[in-house]
Amino acid sequence: MNETATIILDGKKYELPVIIGTEGEKAIDIRKLRQETGYITYDPGFGSTGSCKSAITFMDGEKGILRYRGIPIEQLAENSTFVETAYLLMNGELPNRTELNQIRVQLNDYSVVHEDMQDFFKSYPRASHPMGILSAMVNTLRSFYPELTNTEESINKTFLRLVSKVRTMAAMSYKISRGHKVVYPRQDYTYCANFLNMMFDSPVRSYEVDEELVKALNIFWILHADHEQNCSTATVRVVGSGQVNLYAAISAGISALWGPLHGGANQAVIAMLEEIKNNGGDLSNAVKKAKDKNDPFRLMGFGHRVYKTYDPRAKIMKKMCDIVLSKLTKSDPLLDIARKLEEVALKDPYFIDHHLYPNVDFYSGIVLRAMGIPTNMFTVMFAIGRLPGWISQWKESLDDPDWKISRPRQVYIGKNRTDYAPIGKR
Ligand code: CMC
Repeated sequence: MNETATIILDGKKYELPVIIGTEGEKAIDIRKLRQETGYITYDPGFGSTGSCKSAITFMDGEKGILRYRGIPIEQLAENSTFVETAYLLMNGELPNRTELNQIRVQLNDYSVVHEDMQDFFKSYPRASHPMGILSAMVNTLRSFYPELTNTEESINKTFLRLVSKVRTMAAMSYKISRGHKVVYPRQDYTYCANFLNMMFDSPVRSYEVDEELVKALNIFWILHADHEQNCSTATVRVVGSGQVNLYAAISAGISALWGPLHGGANQAVIAMLEEIKNNGGDLSNAVKKAKDKNDPFRLMGFGHRVYKTYDPRAKIMKKMCDIVLSKLTKSDPLLDIARKLEEVALKDPYFIDHHLYPNVDFYSGIVLRAMGIPTNMFTVMFAIGRLPGWISQWKESLDDPDWKISRPRQVYIGKNRTDYAPIGKR
């Protein structure tokens, strides 16, 4: 028998259908609620609202589980590559050898950026944040590739074009921001090796691609590849629901990711750890401020809307810090501060009672710093990783028979009818 939920409003009983997901998540289907009862639901931040059905990513925030298309994140980080994971998210299955070879060839073919685009990059003031530039440039791609339609073939082509070009554009913007010569992608390098080479090769010092760093970058991007209906993905779906082109929807997603409560947290964590370091390593002030209700300061890289336990991505990222730093025979005082801060916070009743644990951003900046990525590029690194997730979710929304333009309602709390006052009577 189908499950239903009963609600009583103004003394009248209503039966609402219940939807049950494949992992047992239950949702009350309220689509007819307003029409039948006159009531709407109120849920700022959408903590109790399911905006769609999705078959892409499963998270269990209580148990710390994350799976892409059913495969645990730990297994993907251990065995997969970013390109393979991107294919998995988009197509629902891992690619076979032939399919993988095909997408590698296509990613290579799409990797160069129209030469005229370099002029846009060069026109930005030097201090511009790369996230603002990236968002604008992705929107601009529509002008260079106007042929996009919603056919399967066109979407798949645009998916690969974006995944390949955004990586090139990110490295290009870094080089131009430093006043250096742009390094072009090479067909003999894999996706991640190409990125590192485009970032760090120079006419006066050739870059030696290190396979362990390539592996680390693959893991970094796999961990960021999707995270169900987070702020930027929900943005891509909402903006996409107005039937804008894919480039515009992704550009909106990049802007949403920029914020310090979302992808911008990786940059904010480093600023916070630097401040602690400059205060002689004293953590107590940061912890005190984070617990103070009257202080807007938060421990950056801590807490999550869904995870009420350790973020499984943060566990992998923490291990990666050690691997990458030891590979590069580097040490980072910020890693010691981060470890200490985690230890103190996890014993503190405030953080325990609020279920606040490190999230993916807490250790990711340390990995990126070790690789030589500048701090203002951290959120761009997140964006490159999240692209496959955004596009897969956008595509899923196109195919969803329940899909509608997003248009929430509101509870109006403003003035009641007020007559217009002529200027002399105000
Ligand atoms: N430090 C101190 N207190 C915190 C923190 C924190 N980082 N995060 C949440 N709280 C407290 C908050 O003050 C509130 O306390 P109270 O109930 O006593 O008023 C309670 O925990 C619940 O907070 P909330 O803001 O209602 O929780 P949320 O689910 O809306 O916010 C969050 C989630 C990630 C925005 C928040 O935890 C936060 O601001 N964290 C710091 C920024 C950060 O690291 N963001 C990256 C998120 S993971 C990567 C991504 O998905 O982008």
